[in-house]
Amino acid sequence: MRIGVPKEIKKNEYRVALTPRGVEEFTASGHDVFIEKDAGKGSGYSDESYKEAGAIITDIDEVYEKAEMIYKVKEILPPEYAYMKENLIVFTYLHSNGNREMTDVLLNSKVVAIAYEDIEDEYGMFPLLKPMSELAGKGGFIAAINFSQSIHSGNGLMLARVIGVKPATVAIIGAGSAGLGAAELASAMGNRVVILDIDMDKLEEAKFKLPLNVELLYSNRSNLVETLKEADVLINCILWNKNSKGHLIYRDDLKLMKPGSLIVDVACDEKGAIETSRPTSHDQPVYMEEGIQHYVVDNIPAAFPRTATQSLGNITLPYALEIANKGAEKALNENEYLRKGLCFYKGKLTIKETAMKFSIEYTDPKDALGII
Ligand SMILES: NC(=O)c1ccc[n+]([C@@H]2O[C@H](COP(=O)([O-])OP(=O)(O)OC[C@H]3O[C@@H](n4cnc5c(N)ncnc54)[C@H](O)[C@@H]3O)[C@@H](O)[C@H]2O)c1
Repeated sequence: MRIGVPKEIKKNEYRVALTPRGVEEFTASGHDVFIEKDAGKGSGYSDESYKEAGAIITDIDEVYEKAEMIYKVKEILPPEYAYMKENLIVFTYLHSNGNREMTDVLLNSKVVAIAYEDIEDEYGMFPLLKPMSELAGKGGFIAAINFSQSIHSGNGLMLARVIGVKPATVAIIGAGSAGLGAAELASAMGNRVVILDIDMDKLEEAKFKLPLNVELLYSNRSNLVETLKEADVLINCILWNKNSKGHLIYRDDLKLMKPGSLIVDVACDEKGAIETSRPTSHDQPVYMEEGIQHYVVDNIPAAFPRTATQSLGNITLPYALEIANKGAEKALNENEYLRKGLCFYKGKLTIKETAMKFSIEYTDPKDALGII
């Protein structure tokens, strides 16, 4: 198969779908890889390194002209719409339920689009979300180290064990991939770490993954209130139900917190779990509400493109190779977990959330593929 890897064009996005090691795997299986010039530059991979691995470096038009499968990182943006064509396989993060315009383009162009975020594993988890969540949790804690500093309008606490000084309290809500990532770093630095979750199984898992001194609390209102009073940094890592009308932490609750403390909202839902949250960018990451600094960057992994590219590539490459080796139809027929990620199939919308959100007709992926 001919694989095309474009350079990502989203602002502050420096990741690339494929590393030179990944190119070697494709070429070893007899595939051709077309990479847009400078596609890997932001992640530290030169065109030369891709060429040595067997890729052809070319311009964006030829990448799309030659490709049978486009392998990328972010959703399809307006400058890329014109490249969408019938039967083109698109393998990337899509998040179509938040993007009506792109949804229409992918439907009308009759592409076969498989979204990273919807692929499941045998446990019903989302393996292609996990690595970026871990990075976001860890990056969120690294941001907390930065924005606790007085020179960045913080409260002046060093989030590390210092002889003779009480450690800072880092409270983390949500013991999933992001929460565990944040807790791993926060505890390793010698902070007092409290992690809350409503799922006892997640807390049980955390018990085995995190050091003994990390406190594991059931997330109810009274534990949350106590935690808010004690926290120097609160890191929100929960998966918030977007249909929920209320919040977990209301504006008034911020008055319970110590003045000058910091909220890092990794989950990043506008007025979601945290009423006062609104997404920010790496250019302007923080703002103040009720005397509490908020950091709500919605693409934290973008700050660590080299690590993110490697981590994402490790997990997406086996699926991309399966699609290339078998062809999309056979791969989607044989691999029910990959099939969960099928969102668009030759003019049919095969992802329920997007169909419901935009009132578009939904087709079950099995029906679309003609699987009996
Ligand atoms: N900002 C970024 O750059 C970035 C990057 C990746 C992921 N994320 C976001 O981070 C969030 C977490 O992702 P994840 O992969 O760790 O999710 P996850 O599903 O692995 O974990 C979420 C956890 O939240 C818990 N939870 C739900 N409601 C709760 C409540 N009321 N109180 C306490 N815990 C509760 C769940 O039980 C679960 O353990 C998601 O919203 C994801 O979109 C953000």
